[in-house]
Amino acid sequence: MNIVAIVQARLGSKRLPNKVIKPINGLPMIEVLLARLSKSKLITKIVVATSEDDVDKKLKKLINKLGYDCEQGSKDDVLKRYITVAEKYEADIVVRITGDCPLVDSDLVDQVINKFINDNVDYCSNTIPATYPDGLDVEVFTIEALKKSSSMTTNSSDLEHVTPYLKESGNFKTSCLENHNDLSEMRWTVDESIDLEVVDTIFKSFAPDLNFSWLKVLDLQKIRPEIFKNSSLIRNEGFSMTNGQKLWKRAKQIIPGGNMLLSKRPEMFLPDLWPSYFSKSKGCNVWDLDGKKYIDMSIMGIGTNILGYGHPEVDEAVHKTIDSGNMSTLNCPEEVYLAEKLIEINPWADMVRLARSGGEANAIAIRIARAATNKDKVAICGYHGWHDWYLSVNLSSNTNLTNHLLPGLNPNGVPKSLEDTVFPFNYNDFEALVNLVDKENIGIIKMEVERTVGPQNNFLSKVRKLATDRNIVLIFDECTSGFRETFGGIYKKYNVEPDMAMYGKALGNGYAITAIIGKKGIMEAAQTTFISSTFWTERIGPTAAIKTLEIMERDETWKTITKLGLYARNQLQSLADKHQIKIEQWGIPALTGYTFLGRHPLHYKTLITQEMLKKGYLAGNTLYVCIHHTESIIDEFIFNLDPIFSLIKECEDGRDINSLLSGQICHSGFERLN
Ligand SMILES: Cc1ncc(COP(=O)(O)O)c(C=O)c1O
Repeated sequence: MNIVAIVQARLGSKRLPNKVIKPINGLPMIEVLLARLSKSKLITKIVVATSEDDVDKKLKKLINKLGYDCEQGSKDDVLKRYITVAEKYEADIVVRITGDCPLVDSDLVDQVINKFINDNVDYCSNTIPATYPDGLDVEVFTIEALKKSSSMTTNSSDLEHVTPYLKESGNFKTSCLENHNDLSEMRWTVDESIDLEVVDTIFKSFAPDLNFSWLKVLDLQKIRPEIFKNSSLIRNEGFSMTNGQKLWKRAKQIIPGGNMLLSKRPEMFLPDLWPSYFSKSKGCNVWDLDGKKYIDMSIMGIGTNILGYGHPEVDEAVHKTIDSGNMSTLNCPEEVYLAEKLIEINPWADMVRLARSGGEANAIAIRIARAATNKDKVAICGYHGWHDWYLSVNLSSNTNLTNHLLPGLNPNGVPKSLEDTVFPFNYNDFEALVNLVDKENIGIIKMEVERTVGPQNNFLSKVRKLATDRNIVLIFDECTSGFRETFGGIYKKYNVEPDMAMYGKALGNGYAITAIIGKKGIMEAAQTTFISSTFWTERIGPTAAIKTLEIMERDETWKTITKLGLYARNQLQSLADKHQIKIEQWGIPALTGYTFLGRHPLHYKTLITQEMLKKGYLAGNTLYVCIHHTESIIDEFIFNLDPIFSLIKECEDGRDINSLLSGQICHSGFERLN
């Protein structure tokens, strides 16, 4: 009988790229694995099966140099790759080994082969049930069974993982070699860098012997458990993880926090189970790394895309800019055209500066206003970015930003000398603001125009008058609210004009561009200080903004999204009423959100995300509306939400919500609209 061991290996591992050639005690991992496997007394041939990707040519070269055969085959249909190799090498029996198991044990491999032969089965392994340490997996099967399974399934997971159908469909005779003790909790495989460290240390402990038995590793784990510092990682976790989830795990090891924006962290939605990354976006649809399509009924790029993802006209304008050059020693004319357009939209403003993020625009505005007033002290209301000037609010007490950003935020790294330069005030509490202005020598008031609730008792007009009377610069931060209820700032709705304002988020419909606008007397102070940055001069941002503004003005998109937002709000209220669930809705219509007033608001939000994900939605408790969210999309969304509200009602009546959740609950985020 021709018994061919096929070792599947590739360089493009999602979690640990190039892992099969990473050094273990100085040798590439695959070399170690092949050396150990070649000690088998029953295997007649060893072949490495890798993918047809160009990168894997390098792996093939290395394998051939080591004296083994290597074949390249389908990247995603690994089952097909196995059949092709098995046929080429005329295998009667195939032994499947994966390249992430350098501790493969030849005696154990032979035991599984013997059991396979003695039991006269189609498939035999040592993994169902798993009783050996993870990393000693051996699967043995006939080529006929493999071909039959291939003809019976088209499921992508079956094709990627080769044997699920063989072992789980019930259509094949199977058996298993079991260890007398269950050691399946032990982790000797290599999926993450910490695993690599562990395996490297194991090999170093036995060096120069490369062919030590797995039983010796077991002894080592008993004597020196501290070596096995990966033991908390879960067995075979990778099997059911999506590509996005795997990439997020990698990201968390090398990017503090995993990404650059708190609001896009999976923990904010569905820890461990969120798709995390996108491969494509268009309109109000998003595709994850596995190609699964979702309707985005959540934060729409955190409010960047009123015109939907990938708007054809904006993209065309950007493409043209790319074709004719995005950067040069000379300035791009678009920045002037954009400045002129912004002044036209905001006639009280005379001058403009541009930047590329909202936090930056806010910091620039504060610098200019401080330079203009020669005063340091700022009163703030709302979220205005991550910079030192803003976060310094929490130096005197880490509860100061509780109502504006997050409770308990530690301003670590912000110079202590900034303490008592910035003071928070609560929205609609005019008396408190007057007291603050009286007590401190406030030179600047910076605020979001409208937050979760609108202004009451002429709050905005009173703030305007106070600022004028006291010679205070009034700044409206329209980074998020801009273009959602008017063509420009939401301040227009209330007929109250600031001295300066910032736009961000939606200004370039997904392309990075933000703006600071203001009265000449104030803005000119920018020239008395230093505000300058290389990439504020690139051309894509202003190009995208000019086109976005043109489309918004032409199509009056703020009206569309406001109408849709109100529609969604009404439908949601009807759904809540139908189920007798108490919710509180908040936000401006195009940035609508709600909170459950019942027993477990965050659990319910997590349940919605979890269940709606299965139905093809990115969803939580906020909906940032874009022009593609039609009424019928909203209706269907509400229809799909109905059974989940039903479950929530059951939980309100006593059912255990935890029994419905597959993972941890989401973290609570910004306690505000953003
Ligand atoms: C009102 C407001 N200002 C500033 C910012 C900060 O913008 P960015 O995240 O682009 O730095 C945000 C972001 O959420 C915001 O909502």
